[in-house]
Amino acid sequence: MRRLLAPRFHCTRFVAAVKPSITILYDADEERVRDEALAKGEKFPALVSTQIDDVLTKRGYTVKKLAAVAPIKKLVRQLEDDDSDLIFNVCESLGGEGNEERRIAAVLELLDKRFTGSGSLALTLAGDKSLAKKLFEFHKVKSPEFAIITSDRVEGNPTIDRFPLIVKPIATDASIGINAKSVVQNVGELMERVFFIHQEFHTPALVEEYIDGRELYVAVLGNPQVVLPPIEWDLSKLPAELPRIAGTEAKWENDFKEAKEFVPKDIVADEAVMARIRDAALGACGALLIRDYARIDMRLAADGTPYVIEVNPNPWLDNRAEFAMAARRAKPELSHGELIERIVQLAMARTMRPRADGK
Ligand SMILES: Nc1ncnc2c1ncn2[C@@H]1O[C@H](COP(=O)(O)OP(=O)(O)OP(=O)(O)O)[C@@H](O)[C@H]1O
Ligand SMILES: [Mg+2]
Repeated sequence: MRRLLAPRFHCTRFVAAVKPSITILYDADEERVRDEALAKGEKFPALVSTQIDDVLTKRGYTVKKLAAVAPIKKLVRQLEDDDSDLIFNVCESLGGEGNEERRIAAVLELLDKRFTGSGSLALTLAGDKSLAKKLFEFHKVKSPEFAIITSDRVEGNPTIDRFPLIVKPIATDASIGINAKSVVQNVGELMERVFFIHQEFHTPALVEEYIDGRELYVAVLGNPQVVLPPIEWDLSKLPAELPRIAGTEAKWENDFKEAKEFVPKDIVADEAVMARIRDAALGACGALLIRDYARIDMRLAADGTPYVIEVNPNPWLDNRAEFAMAARRAKPELSHGELIERIVQLAMARTMRPRADGK
């Protein structure tokens, strides 16, 4: 009996020590954007897929990269043929189209692939801010008062009439459609912006109470999730003519963002406020079925109330991004490489549903 058991035990230990093989899945469009920038002589940092490739290769993983290109048929075949143990999914779009992120995850699910980050349902819920906010209400997660205005009806709280308000498309990210004109001061500006959203984005407009507060990015990691130190972006130094929001002007039109983000010492030292921030972050993730890692954007009002603005599942894993910054400040601290490896481990620990065909 002993003899029989010993080799099996040995074998299990051996298997556990072997690192999983990994395919990094990303949108090929990122390469097009990079190549265009390089052709214009602009600087362009390494793509996230390359950064992840580098850190995992250094850590002894066998890594390959798969650039997702539409049409989907080809991608499905490539994924079917892929024999890696894990897909590291940083495909936030397909052909630059952000709305496809959730469908890429759905394809991975249909193919019974093990992959990092949130599943298609969480990506769908978080990707539609109006759906997310309805769930926040049910789960008592504090988020700004809101109404959703479609071309033929108003949902939510149409009595929000305290200006300023902020008007956003319900399903974009990277602040697309959010700029100085989004913060409206009267009914005329509100109507103009709502029409603009309908015409430009063909989505309902999300009208929210404007939260005059500090801009915080809260990273969560793990299953169950742990909240990492918040990162603040001090918007008070924005040019006077701009509203204090992380809109397109602040994010993309100047280098205002460089080196302006930090862990706010006063907030971290205030245990009562930190407890509210943690509750809000975890509540928001629970409401949207988030797994592995996410970044929750918040505004902290002067009275210490954190308002959840949105949840970003599978946030940008660049080594300069807020998520990596928060990981470096965590206790114990996580380097970029350790963070990426932790995400691999979280996905590897996931129980996969048994396949219908028994394979
Ligand atoms: N209700 C609000 N009150 C005050 N500021 C807000 C509100 N909603 C959004 N903002 C500001 O606009 C910014 C962008 O909003 P939001 O995070 O919803 O957009 P996004 O395009 O999804 O952003 P991301 O680039 O994080 O994907 C916020 O970071 C915040 O500065
Ligand atoms: Mg945001």
